[in-house]
Amino acid sequence: MTTHTILDSAPAVAVKDGPLIDARGLHKRYNDVEVLKGVDFAALPGQVKALLGPSGSGKSTLLRLLNLLEHADDGEIIFEGARLGVRPGTTRHAPERMLAVQRRDIGMVFQRFNLFPHLTAVRNVSLRLAALPGVGRAEAEQRAAQMLERVGLGHRVHAYPSELSGGQQQRVAIARALVLNPKVMLFDEPTSALDPELVHEVLDVMEELAAEGMTMIVVTHETRFARRVADEVAFFDHGVILEQAEPEKFFSEPEHERTRQFLAHLH
Ligand SMILES: Nc1ncnc2c1ncn2[C@@H]1O[C@H](COP(=O)(O)OP(=O)(O)OP(=O)(O)O)[C@@H](O)[C@H]1O
Ligand SMILES: [Mg+2]
Repeated sequence: MTTHTILDSAPAVAVKDGPLIDARGLHKRYNDVEVLKGVDFAALPGQVKALLGPSGSGKSTLLRLLNLLEHADDGEIIFEGARLGVRPGTTRHAPERMLAVQRRDIGMVFQRFNLFPHLTAVRNVSLRLAALPGVGRAEAEQRAAQMLERVGLGHRVHAYPSELSGGQQQRVAIARALVLNPKVMLFDEPTSALDPELVHEVLDVMEELAAEGMTMIVVTHETRFARRVADEVAFFDHGVILEQAEPEKFFSEPEHERTRQFLAHLH
């Protein structure tokens, strides 16, 4: 057993036992293409949800909406009981500075790590924290170094991204999201840009996070990880969630022929 934990604070507490994040009827269209066709998707506090589905089915689009990087054309996202992305009490889009505040609770990790190449690991992790009101650079860097320690990179805090392996860079990116103390973490294929032998070090960190109670939504093709760590698996196809089930049921007796085909393809 490890004695330290990745999370500083206790995991989010249920809002009247309801979902932490609850997306309802999301629609998103790019030009003439309807990419999300009415997606309902929720995660309870502490739940780990895996998202699977073919390329182009809308998985990344859903995560971008949940992270407020884009607005839905229709539908709503409720977080801890309040609607995200709008001015409180209205349906008007929130201005960017308000979105930035709402986004602080929602950590995001991308397939490509998107680290600043000219900044060391500790500077990459501390940058957004140091920009928050009342947090000085020294304090931000101290917390960043602690977070790097917790993803197993305490010995590499002063390394530049080019001096780190892909797995290490992705762990820096995870630390960068965690240092803001988010209540939910979104992962968009976090290991698919990695050499196969580096995948496990990132999945191990994610599994540890899950065990500590972090609410997680993970787009992944790592079915073994989904089976072991996820509480539920959702299958996306052509802009809808076709089915959703506990991993055991999902992988051994999927309901839809389309899901069976997809899984057969993966293996
Ligand atoms: N900014 C955009 N402008 C136009 N079309 C877009 C944009 N973003 C996504 N799309 C289209 O929306 C569809 C869904 O894309 P999305 O990236 O959500 O799929 P995905 O399920 O994440 O696929 P992958 O497994 O390849 O990552 C695709 O057809 C894509 O081309
Ligand atoms: Mg994608």
